Amino acid sequence: MGLLRLVCAFLLAFCCCCRRATGVPGEAERPMPELVEVEVGSTALLKCGPSHSQGNLSHVDWFSVHKEKPTLIFRVRQGQGQSEPGEYQHRLSLQGRGGPLALTEVTPHDERIFLCQSKRPRSQEHRIQLRVCKAPEEPNIQVNVLGIPVNSEEPQEVATCVGRNGYPIPQVIWYKNGRPLKEEKNRVHIQSSQIVESSGLYTLQSVLKAQLVKEDKDAQFYCELNYRLPSGNHMKESREVSVPVFYSTEKVWLEVEPMGVLKEGDYVEIRCLADGNPPPHFSISKQNSSTGEMDEQIINDVGVLVLEPARKEHSGLYECQGLDLQTMVSLPSEQQELLVNYVSDVRVTPTAPETQEGGSLILTCEAESNQALEFQWLREKTGQVLGAGPTLQLHNLKREAGGGYRCVASVPSVPGLNRTQLVNVAIFGPPWMAFKERKVWVKENAAWNLSCEASGHPRPIISWNVNGTASEQEQDPQRVLSTLNVLVTPELLETGAECMASNSLGKNTTVIFLELVSLTTLTPDSNKTAGLSTSTVSPHARANSTSTEKKLPEPESKGVVIVAVTVCILVLAVLGAVLYFFYKKGKLPCGRSGKQEITLPPSRKSEFVVEVKSDKLPEEMGLLQGSNGDKRAPGDQGEKYIDLRH
Ligand SMILES: *[C@@H]1O[C@H](CO)[C@@H](O)[C@H](O)[C@H]1NC(C)=O
Ligand SMILES: *[C@@H]1O[C@H](CO)[C@@H](O)[C@H](O)[C@H]1NC(C)=O
Ligand SMILES: *[C@@H]1O[C@H](CO)[C@@H](O)[C@H](O)[C@H]1NC(C)=O
Ligand SMILES: *[C@@H]1O[C@H](CO)[C@@H](O)[C@H](O)[C@H]1NC(C)=O
Ligand SMILES: *[C@@H]1O[C@H](CO)[C@@H](O)[C@H](O)[C@H]1NC(C)=O
Ligand SMILES: *[C@@H]1O[C@H](CO)[C@@H](O)[C@H](O)[C@H]1NC(C)=O
Ligand SMILES: *[C@@H]1O[C@H](CO)[C@@H](O)[C@H](O)[C@H]1NC(C)=O
Ligand SMILES: *[C@@H]1O[C@H](CO)[C@@H](O)[C@H](O)[C@H]1NC(C)=O
Repeated sequence: MGLLRLVCAFLLAFCCCCRRATGVPGEAERPMPELVEVEVGSTALLKCGPSHSQGNLSHVDWFSVHKEKPTLIFRVRQGQGQSEPGEYQHRLSLQGRGGPLALTEVTPHDERIFLCQSKRPRSQEHRIQLRVCKAPEEPNIQVNVLGIPVNSEEPQEVATCVGRNGYPIPQVIWYKNGRPLKEEKNRVHIQSSQIVESSGLYTLQSVLKAQLVKEDKDAQFYCELNYRLPSGNHMKESREVSVPVFYSTEKVWLEVEPMGVLKEGDYVEIRCLADGNPPPHFSISKQNSSTGEMDEQIINDVGVLVLEPARKEHSGLYECQGLDLQTMVSLPSEQQELLVNYVSDVRVTPTAPETQEGGSLILTCEAESNQALEFQWLREKTGQVLGAGPTLQLHNLKREAGGGYRCVASVPSVPGLNRTQLVNVAIFGPPWMAFKERKVWVKENAAWNLSCEASGHPRPIISWNVNGTASEQEQDPQRVLSTLNVLVTPELLETGAECMASNSLGKNTTVIFLELVSLTTLTPDSNKTAGLSTSTVSPHARANSTSTEKKLPEPESKGVVIVAVTVCILVLAVLGAVLYFFYKKGKLPCGRSGKQEITLPPSRKSEFVVEVKSDKLPEEMGLLQGSNGDKRAPGDQGEKYIDLRH
């Protein structure tokens, strides 16, 4: 019985609510009730009959009709309203004297017929059908995250749509890729149900079930709620969802990244791919070149084999297997050849070539590759190309021809694929010094590094004639650099130092003169100060003892200049003040000529500055200019002065 009533209410709501009523069937003799539509929560205005007769109704009874039974709810006497006790007691009032009856806070329970009867003047009863509407909330869609297999026998749940608190029950429409879905036997089922909330509002729940195919893996589903308000038809859409669709693997294949020609050292990825969802369990195998069988290499879910770096052993036939865990069917991919191009280590013979000065040498270069190789010879220091081909002939070798030679073996068809080998050519000869003699700028009583470089074959040994800590560095097989850390004593300044290089074929020496560095080691670095400072060093500094090396009293002279300039500025300030005083007193003419006189002080100032400049040593002016370059290490500057001198 209750269900029947619910269905009836449902049908009634759909056929009639919020639409112009066509009358209650079987009551043809009665006039059609007047239809009044209101939204839940708002106020309904009920008029007893056509508006033109309103003012005359001074004596009216209002009834609410529930289950065909009228109940008196409100009375109007001499235009004054009065509520009757009951469910409407507190929500009814007259809108002004003789105005319509206002029902506030309308709820779905108020959807019924109201009836009024005017006693004075006596009139026919007037019936009003109150219709209540409310928009549902935004529809909420939940997708079936577990997914749907394509070969399911019955339609499977795709998604559930919930629209809360609407009145009457909204209509739901499901969409796939923007097109509405219709009920289809064994393919599409839409199951809708609703709950009546205590407020009388409906919460609608609709479940979409469907049989899906592989192509539906990217399909977008959403639901739409249609409802009516007094203002007209409306709808609300849910967001779009897509459901995981499961289908078996039909094809497995293999991809190699990067595509194109590969070489040793490259980063290479072999990837297994399949068209099934979920992807199958992959394994990758490689052909054993000796047995010709596919030896399984790796089993992993992702099916990616990374070769980093690729080596020539990685070349060969590869194959992927995909095991579908649903069907337990294993599918192989096509086999794919992987070729990692390579160049072997390069060998140069002889490995340690040596000859007398004026002699000849033949260098031979060898390497293997799976591709055609090209050879090239370069001079190591300069990068100069000496020739192409696997052999290099060297004739009438001078001592300068000693040093590094590099053979480059490259594969022209594979860009960037090459290997090289360096070989050192040694020419027999006595030591050869980098400098025959050398000047070093030092500070007294400081530890200083003296260096000496010699070349020769066999490689020379370096010794020093002064005490200190020596360390040797082998620059290349024929070259050695010795560094001696010494304390700069007055004696050492006088004698200087000498290094001697010797090998089985002879000896050679470098003489090192020590010169004292002057104040310039403390000045900021700039070309001007550096250039000037060298002039302050006596050319005989080394010969004279340290006492003569006491420098110009430069901080004092610097101070004098600063004082002079300060005094000048003060004098100018006083002069300016005096001139201004006279100007204010009117003792000076205020015209153009006056201005000229006032501009005089700045020009005099510049005169003073010029005088100072001409007075003082140029390097002090350099100081005054105060170039603010960064300070260098003393040793660093010492080097620089040598360069300037030469
Ligand atoms: C009251 O009704 C009379 C006829 O019965 C009509 O002439 C008159 O205009 C009405 N008054 C108002 C205020 O509507
Ligand atoms: C190839 O097969 C031979 C003989 O079965 C075996 O000794 C060798 O280890 C295999 N090589 C690889 C890379 O599996
Ligand atoms: C040798 O290979 C390097 C990279 O491996 C490349 O930069 C260089 O250009 C190649 N040289 C030649 C001569 O091919
Ligand atoms: C010592 O080396 C210099 C080059 O610094 C060179 O000119 C000179 O010939 C060499 N002396 C001997 C004996 O080899
Ligand atoms: C001298 O050389 C030694 C090592 O060779 C180094 O640690 C030191 O800093 C150098 N001293 C100067 C003043 O360059
Ligand atoms: C080097 O030091 C030793 C003692 O340490 C000394 O006997 C020798 O005279 C010194 N040689 C020179 C050249 O200063
Ligand atoms: C110093 O002078 C040299 C040439 O005399 C020049 O090459 C160099 O750039 C100058 N450096 C500075 C910092 O002015
Ligand atoms: C410094 O030596 C030079 C020549 O070596 C000499 O003419 C000069 O008088 C010496 N100066 C002092 C202060 O000894």
